[in-house]
Amino acid sequence: MEEPNYKDVFKKDKILVEKFKLNDNYKLKYSGKKYFLKTYGCQMNEHDSENIKALLEDMGFESVDDYEKADLVLLNTCSVRENAHNKAFGMLGRFKHLKEEKKDLIVGLCGCMAQEEGVIKEIREKYKFVNFVFGTHNVYELPEIIDKAVMEGKQEIDVKSFGDRIIEDIPVRRENSFKAYVNIIYGCDKFCTYCIVPYTRGKEHSRRREDILKEIKALKEDGYKEVTLLGQNVNAYGHDLYNDYTFGNLLEDVAKEGIPRIRFTTSHPWNFTDKMIDVIAKYENIMPAIHLPLQSGSDKILKSMGRRYTKESYLKLFDEMKEKIPNCHISTDIIVGFPGETEEDFNETLDVVKHCKYDNAYTFIYSPRENTPAAKFKDQVDESVKEQRLQRLNKLVNKYFLENNKKLEGKVLEVLVEGKNEKHGYFGYSKEMKLVNFTGKEIEIGSLVNVEITKAKTWSLDGNAK
Ligand code: 5AD
Ligand code: SF4
Repeated sequence: MEEPNYKDVFKKDKILVEKFKLNDNYKLKYSGKKYFLKTYGCQMNEHDSENIKALLEDMGFESVDDYEKADLVLLNTCSVRENAHNKAFGMLGRFKHLKEEKKDLIVGLCGCMAQEEGVIKEIREKYKFVNFVFGTHNVYELPEIIDKAVMEGKQEIDVKSFGDRIIEDIPVRRENSFKAYVNIIYGCDKFCTYCIVPYTRGKEHSRRREDILKEIKALKEDGYKEVTLLGQNVNAYGHDLYNDYTFGNLLEDVAKEGIPRIRFTTSHPWNFTDKMIDVIAKYENIMPAIHLPLQSGSDKILKSMGRRYTKESYLKLFDEMKEKIPNCHISTDIIVGFPGETEEDFNETLDVVKHCKYDNAYTFIYSPRENTPAAKFKDQVDESVKEQRLQRLNKLVNKYFLENNKKLEGKVLEVLVEGKNEKHGYFGYSKEMKLVNFTGKEIEIGSLVNVEITKAKTWSLDGNAK
């Protein structure tokens, strides 16, 4: 039994790569049992859940959408803001009630919250009905952990805190057959002062390029149309493994494999290289939709966040991307109410937004997180001021979403068809990462179609398939 440890997570000597193999003892051992899995947080968590599903199904569990019908319920949690944290604990409360009627219910928790020392303490002391916990570093141990919890009837908490191990070939049950996530680098070393991720996901450790390219080749052969390369900071890819092979090189090698659409997330503005810009500009199958988190437009706040860039250097990079990458669309993340943020600082953020006119923006109120430096900063901003700034910011970003979308009216965009909805017919995303609702006849889900845009809305476009 191991618990999360904020010190060990930063130890790293040499990366160990191991191949996963499911122990025969667990294969189909739980046939006939049902599981319910709920995922919070980012794409990294969504992709971990694709591994978790495959492992549970290899053990014989079958998925159900209604947690009341499940024999095993599992939450894959996120720690990034208090909101996500509270939602997970709220859900655990519901499971507690269910377990009062259904004594054999197996309850589990995994993901980023499992890596928090404080959460584990709380689970051990106040959530004794939780049967098992595993972390972000040991998803592959799920079969042993669940089986031990069931067989021994004790709370099984097993959370590793290492940043030096990569397990290849963990089975995966992808959400769909045309769009796939591929991890390229785990962890984050940037230590922005507000962010819990370096503590929950550990040190940066890259997958070997040959393993990534093997996975991409297999996805191409299986007919996948879109691949998203994942990392907390993809720009850092390779620095721990190679002397002269960086994210720009990997992106180029992936593009050459010929999958029609390649995306990546997330890129830190600090080490977004010229090589990356050149490669994105050169290959048509690298999508011109880039996520470039700003966080704040004030140099004082950026410094206190530990972001390693200034308003000026961010804008320089932004302008260069717009100039060199054809049809370039940029989205961002912004935090309001970081400790010490004055009205002047906030206006600097609005200033950058006015310059960049983002195509999409995820805006957040600063949320103090366990063990992060900023949580201890003295000059925390009043909740009402934070709320009011968020509203002002949202009003501004929304204005630009609509303005940008209006420019697409009358244009024909290529859309990857994701599904049907009752109101509009079909929906999917364009290369520019715009949500498009459109009409059409007998269109195959997972195909690429041209859609003429008839109407722009703030968060989506309407159109007709050509
Ligand atoms: N409070 C609010 N927002 C945060 N983010 C990360 N940590 C926090 C926090 N403590 C936001 C950042 C990041 C996005 C994934 O979540 O904007 O880019
Ligand atoms: Fe949430 Fe960050 Fe963990 Fe993703 S990596 S699940 S955003 S805390």
